[in-house]
Amino acid sequence: MLELCSMANSTIDLLLKRRSVLAKNLIEPGPSPEELQSILSAALRIPDHGRAEPWKIQILDKEAQSSLGDFCAELFNSENPDSKETHIELERNRPQRSPILLIITMCPNEKKLAKIPEVEQLLSTGAMCQNILVATQALGYNAQWVTDWPAYHVDVIKFLGHNDKTQIAGFIHIGTAAEEPNERPRPDIKEIVSKFRV
Ligand SMILES: Cc1cc2nc3c(=O)[nH]c(=O)nc-3n(C[C@H](O)[C@H](O)[C@H](O)COP(=O)(O)O)c2cc1C
Repeated sequence: MLELCSMANSTIDLLLKRRSVLAKNLIEPGPSPEELQSILSAALRIPDHGRAEPWKIQILDKEAQSSLGDFCAELFNSENPDSKETHIELERNRPQRSPILLIITMCPNEKKLAKIPEVEQLLSTGAMCQNILVATQALGYNAQWVTDWPAYHVDVIKFLGHNDKTQIAGFIHIGTAAEEPNERPRPDIKEIVSKFRV
């Protein structure tokens, strides 16, 4: 009982202190292969109505990040021919900012759509992203969940090997914080939470 209680306390402490670290401030080391396996196992431990299992996770090491960066830079350049070289390089570097990059995607399970609407399948995918953030921080590493234009570009989705029904829920950068992030203002609980009365 005592052990359960202290586990609960450390979980609530972790949740109350959780902070993202900007991808550009995530440096080596990243999680070991065993630690990454724990993060990924935690990722799968999410609510999933009717076992729709609409999600996939891809792991990108530095080599894969570099290919994705080159692809995004060329795509950005072809669609924005007047952009400055510095901006193209920023796009090349975007997926390469951290030791490990995870890409979490959702392709709706069409057989289950009548009972499990797409929004529920997407919500489960969001829960997966959040579990990854929390598990990463529990192991002493840091992460940031980002999207930006590459998450919504059909050519990027295709480049990653997905069909056109697949959506990117998030790019999650993982590494060690180069410096501790400052706290940031959080919403006032009174503005968000109320007692419903009839
Ligand atoms: C779906 C989603 C997409 C996001 N995309 C970006 C992004 O592209 N760039 C960014 O700087 N932050 C993005 N964020 C916000 C960060 O993940 C993070 O929440 C923010 O840096 C604040 O840090 P905190 O998690 O400690 O509150 C996104 C968050 C969510 C939920």
